[in-house]
Order: sequence, then structure tokens, then C-alpha cells
Amino acid sequence: MNKKNKIVKPAKFVKGQITLPGDKSISHRTLLFAALAKGKSKIKFLNNGADVLSTIVCLQKFGIKFQLGRYSVEVDSPGFKKWNREIVGPINCGNSGTTTRLLAGLVAGQGIDVKMIGDESLSARPMKRVIDPLRQMGADIKSDDGKLPMIFHGSKLEGIRYTLPVASAQVKSCLLFAGLFADGKTYITEKIQTRDHTENMMKIFGISIFKKKDVLSINKLKHLVIPFNYSVPGDPSAAAFWIAAGLLVPNSKLTLKRISLNPSRICYIKLLQKIGCKIRINSTDQSLEPSGNIIIQSSKIKSFSVGKKITASLIDEIPILALIATQAKGKSTFRGLKELRHKESDRIKSIVENLKSMGAGIKEYSNGFDIFGPTKLKGNTVDSYGDHRIAMMLSIAGLIANSPVKIKNHSIVNISYPDFYGILKRISSKR
Ligand code: S3P
Repeated sequence: MNKKNKIVKPAKFVKGQITLPGDKSISHRTLLFAALAKGKSKIKFLNNGADVLSTIVCLQKFGIKFQLGRYSVEVDSPGFKKWNREIVGPINCGNSGTTTRLLAGLVAGQGIDVKMIGDESLSARPMKRVIDPLRQMGADIKSDDGKLPMIFHGSKLEGIRYTLPVASAQVKSCLLFAGLFADGKTYITEKIQTRDHTENMMKIFGISIFKKKDVLSINKLKHLVIPFNYSVPGDPSAAAFWIAAGLLVPNSKLTLKRISLNPSRICYIKLLQKIGCKIRINSTDQSLEPSGNIIIQSSKIKSFSVGKKITASLIDEIPILALIATQAKGKSTFRGLKELRHKESDRIKSIVENLKSMGAGIKEYSNGFDIFGPTKLKGNTVDSYGDHRIAMMLSIAGLIANSPVKIKNHSIVNISYPDFYGILKRISSKR
């Protein structure tokens, strides 16, 4: 980790075109489906961050081979039936919750003995949410306190009916992957819709999955997945930072290329459009995983509310939405956000402490916060708390503050967006 603080200076304007890194959620899933397939799959525009690399490193342990190019990766898998079953040492999921929870589902039904570990942040995050339903399916998992390490002993799974107690795409996907290796049918009820990439990609890659109202159902996988070529659309959660920069820095205009426009991922854009922000969407690909370009221009910000119903659809965008709210006239409310306390950092705390230290009017609650704006933010030394989305939010805050912002632990952006600071430099004009 780069120990030096990152200094971000106020900008006169931001301008230019940005091609986003591949969507992180879709990238993880594409790798997992390629690992299930027998043969060579080619994935273009895979996200190049450390989280997705964690999925690759874990899958290598099962005997899957990867050839990494600059913008693509070739995956060569023997097919799930011929995965390596003698795993030497633990599989390390690094900082990645998605790797851990999705892979847990995939591993549970393979009859493989394996120990999953992660870094300090990941080891503090709740895994009981996947352990409980997987145990109900018959998985043999040891974990001291519902956290990592999780030790799997090969066992047979059976389909269950399960209602998700927390709105989580990771838990849903874990159970969908487990369902592929369980006898009988697995039913998952999702009361609040979360991102649906796993379901879409199952359809794209020829795996049957059914949906009736809010119940998903899946059968045991009887055939091998056919290898595929797939292009990952750009990450809308990474785009969220540039959208904020374009809106908040005066005299700005940004064009973002080939972003995922999956309806379960664009709640942030819809909310900002609803309060009058100048964001134009030009959809270019209307497939199951749609994508397109968007154009953003500086806008006046009105206050808004984020409530329980929509938090799952903009869970990763809350830090940057909080920054946007500091520039809105009046009170913006954020509630129903308990899940934010279980992310890469306690995001309610990381948002409140950092924005407060820059002069924002912000009041913390157990499940959210209120923000009173508009506030001209002051430059200060702030801390990412080892959380990539907090580091990127604070960097955009630096563009609109009255003096430079110094960000501790800034290199954590490498988790999802290694090129972030290069692009920030390219698009911003010094004040
Ligand atoms: C993700 C789901 C969300 C999100 C995470 C990626 C996924 O997590 O915050 O960044 O790829 O399924 P939860 O399902 O835990 O809310």
C-alpha cells in the first residue's frame, strides 16, 4: 500500500470522455461461469481491480487457468466435474465480499474440503448470512463467529425454500450457485429486488432459471456450461464518481462510454435526473445486460431523500450521494442503511466523520444520516478507512473544496478502479 497521502486540488472544471473499467459484479460472475464451463472462454473488458483478481487467484486453486491480456482474459477450465479436489492451503479472497460469498455457494456443493480466508476488513464482515442457508441445504461449514475463516468439508446439498432476510445480491447469488449443485429444486424469495446479474448471466450462458413474482427457482445443473466470449459493460458504480464530478464542478461536461444500464443498477442516475440534474442517457445495447453512453453537465442540486425501498438499488452509490447532498439546498435524508455498516468499512461512520471534518452539516443515526446543505467544503486531511468507495468519494470532494484535500490510504482505489487517479488528473483543470 502507498503510504503517502494523496492530495486532490480544487478544479476549475472537469471535461472529457471516460471509458469505464468493466463492471465489478459482472466481472466476478463471468469468471465463475467460465470456471463452470469446459473449455476456453474469452472475457473482454474484465474489471482490472484487486477484487476481481482475488476471484482469479481463488479459481486457480481449483485448476482453472487464466491468461491475462491488457483488456481481456482467457479462461481455460476443465469443467466443474474435473476441478482440482486436493486444495493445498487456504483460498484467499483478499478484500472481496463478492468473491467470498459467491464462491462459497459454488464450493459448498462440490464435495471439496477447503478453507476460505480474507484480509482484515473482509474477516470482520458477516458471513452468517451465507453460512445459515448453506447449512440448511446440507453444507458442512465451520466458522467460529459467523465470519471468516470458513472451512468447508465436502457434503451433499439439497434444494431448500429460502426467503432472504437481508436484501443482498451476494447472498442471493450464493444460493443460486449452490442450487446448481443441490438435489431437487432451490427456491429463493427476494422481497426487495437487488442487482440481477447472476440471473441474467445464467440465461445468457444457457442455464435454466425461473422467476415467478419475487421467487426465483433453479434446478441441479445436469449439463456442462458451454464456453463463451463475453464483453463486460462499464461499471455504473465507478461511473457514479465521475457523474458527481461532472454535476458538482462548475462549467463541466463529461461523456461516459459503454456503461452498464442494467435497470437494477441505475437508480442513482434516475434519482439525480428526478431532482433536475443534467444527465443524458444514450442507450446503445439493449440486450439482457444493456449498456450505453451518458453525458453529464454541471447542475444545480436539489435536496432529496433515500429511503429503505431504494437503498438496495444504490447501496454502492451512497458515499458519493452523500457528497452530492452536501451541495443541495436544505435537508437530505438517508435512512434504511444498516447494511452500510457491514461494507468494506462502516460506511455510515466513514461518510459522517470525513464530511463533518470538511465542514458539512451532517447528523448520524443508527441506520443513516441527515445532511444539511449547501456547504462550501473545506480542504482537510481525511481517511478512506481502507474503503475504495470512500477514497473515491473524498477525491471528488477535493475537486469542489476551497483548498486541497489530503487522503490517507488512498491507494485502496485499486480494489475496483486502479486507473482512478490517472483519469482524475486527465479530466480536471486546475483552479
Ligand atoms: C454486489 C452486491 C452488493 C454490493 C457489492 C457487490 C454483488 O453487496 O454492495 O459491491 O456483486 O453482488 P450486498 O449483496 O452484500 O449488498
